[in-house]
Amino acid sequence: MTHYKIATIAGDGIGPEVTDATVKVLQAALGRDALHFEMLDGGAAHYRKSGEVLPEDTFTACRDLDAVLHGAAGLPGVTYPDGTEVGNELHLQLRFRLDLYANVRPVKLLSGVTSPLRAFEEGGIDYVIIRENTEGLYASRGAGVLLRGEVATDTLMVTRKGTERVARFAFDLSRKRNGAPRDGKRRVTVCDKANILRSYAFFRGVCDEVAADYPDVEIDYAYADAITVHLIKRPDFYDVIVAENMFGDIISDLGATTVGGMGISPSGEIGDNQALFQGAHGSAPDIAGQDVASPLATILSATMMLRWLSDRHGDATLSEAAARIDGAVDKVLAQGAAVPRDLGGTAGCTEMTDAICRALG
Ligand code: IPM
Ligand code: MN
Repeated sequence: MTHYKIATIAGDGIGPEVTDATVKVLQAALGRDALHFEMLDGGAAHYRKSGEVLPEDTFTACRDLDAVLHGAAGLPGVTYPDGTEVGNELHLQLRFRLDLYANVRPVKLLSGVTSPLRAFEEGGIDYVIIRENTEGLYASRGAGVLLRGEVATDTLMVTRKGTERVARFAFDLSRKRNGAPRDGKRRVTVCDKANILRSYAFFRGVCDEVAADYPDVEIDYAYADAITVHLIKRPDFYDVIVAENMFGDIISDLGATTVGGMGISPSGEIGDNQALFQGAHGSAPDIAGQDVASPLATILSATMMLRWLSDRHGDATLSEAAARIDGAVDKVLAQGAAVPRDLGGTAGCTEMTDAICRALG
């Protein structure tokens, strides 16, 4: 068994407890030797103590180790003079400096979970949002104009390179999936506002150029406002959605809510040389330290990490372990053996973790 080193940043709020829970589940599935978790400093609490949100030795470990596992970052009131939150800087610096250009956000209705969209059952909602993760409106982070307390601007930046690679990622992913639940068609939906802004029309045009290399995958378009209606009324139509950074940030929370919420929604931020995996939720400081947070989003992000490592290293033991963990989560939810509070149950973080470890046998 190869030994993999995971740069692990527990972070703030519920981050430490959901990270601990995930380490326990990974060790239950793979044993204690397969993965080494290098615990690293970073986040708003660390900034409050040290003045650094992402220490250089943490960044170096995230750059050089095999993958990055993150709990959550950010604390209310810990902000920069310009009003932006410090905790987010940990994440954004890692995205930009490690060039993690594809933010993969699966939206899948699991067994035992009741969607607020009553018409849909397990498997009826199963799509993946690919959020461009290094440019768009986020390119302006820390670079916007603040003028005499009267004017503030941030610029939306769309590049050919940034769009081409995230669109190719989306089409390649669609080829690995079984199509949209509604019709089994492999489909990539380009989410933009090409009708209004040239930058989005350019984004769409580059996606069209990439689509020409994938005649077996249907290309589809949806304006960012219209897609919020479609994701409620016909979520089963979607297979893979590719979107600019800010639109991807927004529609991924909407999608998450249709399949049980942020507490069950994983994410993988993937570049050519590194990847960061974390639940799509935030640090939820209001419930931190009370053992009530659901660890599911981080655990499901860790199975994404195992699959990414498996593909990268040709190590089937990791993808097999990922399948066992997903199966254990499905089993616990389907049987109601333990249901987290955000899904209407009473199970806290430890109870959910123990139930999944038991289901792993
Ligand atoms: C997300 C979060 C981040 C974002 C924050 C934590 C920087 O909302 O990952 O969706 O704005 O992208
Ligand atoms: Mn977000």
